[in-house]
Amino acid sequence: MSLHPHRPPSAVTALAVVGNPRPASRTAGLARAVLDAVLADLGLAEGADAEVLDLGALLAGAGAPLGADSAQRYADPLARLHAARLLIVATPVYKGSYTGLLKSFLDHVAAGALRDAVAVPVITVGSPAHTLAADVHLRPLLVELGASLPTPALVVPEHALADPSDVVEAWLTRSRPALRALLAEPQPVGPAGS
Ligand SMILES: Cc1cc2nc3c(=O)[nH]c(=O)nc-3n(C[C@H](O)[C@H](O)[C@H](O)COP(=O)(O)O)c2cc1C
Repeated sequence: MSLHPHRPPSAVTALAVVGNPRPASRTAGLARAVLDAVLADLGLAEGADAEVLDLGALLAGAGAPLGADSAQRYADPLARLHAARLLIVATPVYKGSYTGLLKSFLDHVAAGALRDAVAVPVITVGSPAHTLAADVHLRPLLVELGASLPTPALVVPEHALADPSDVVEAWLTRSRPALRALLAEPQPVGPAGS
């Protein structure tokens, strides 16, 4: 599905989903920075359809992504999620895990439905004790939805949120080959009719 039929077919569709219930949070700023850094690093920024879905900002207008009519209220954000080839999924750690807001939104997605997406789990943490929340909680959630997660999680401690550029750059150095292989290099073409 293309939400932007006039874009060149080779342009990547990228979305950063932010699970912080507080709008315009530091986690949202980090998500935008990671999205921009990955696209620029892979040479995919030009023509990309890249945006940040700040779930905390949606709460005021659309209400919570819970309840009988929430699939209708969240139809557009969910369509954007399903259309994304690159997904940055960012959440602050709440109670040792991701936020309830992120989980409520992603509960609308069928198991395996994000099979075309390359996802990057991103968490911000107040305590180093919860660094593993990205791999113990957020990664399995995204795998259940079918996304491919070829990189290490990006974990940013609260004290680094004012300027996370060094942490992002170190993560990108480790993650670049896997991201490039899945997003920037031509995929092998199968035999005719396959
Ligand atoms: C309700 C709540 C629960 C939190 N629980 C945790 C936690 O279990 N572990 C942790 O490391 N940080 C926890 N924190 C701290 C946040 O993860 C941290 O402040 C956040 O990552 C900062 O991002 P922000 O500025 O975008 O909100 C919690 C914060 C709130 C508000």
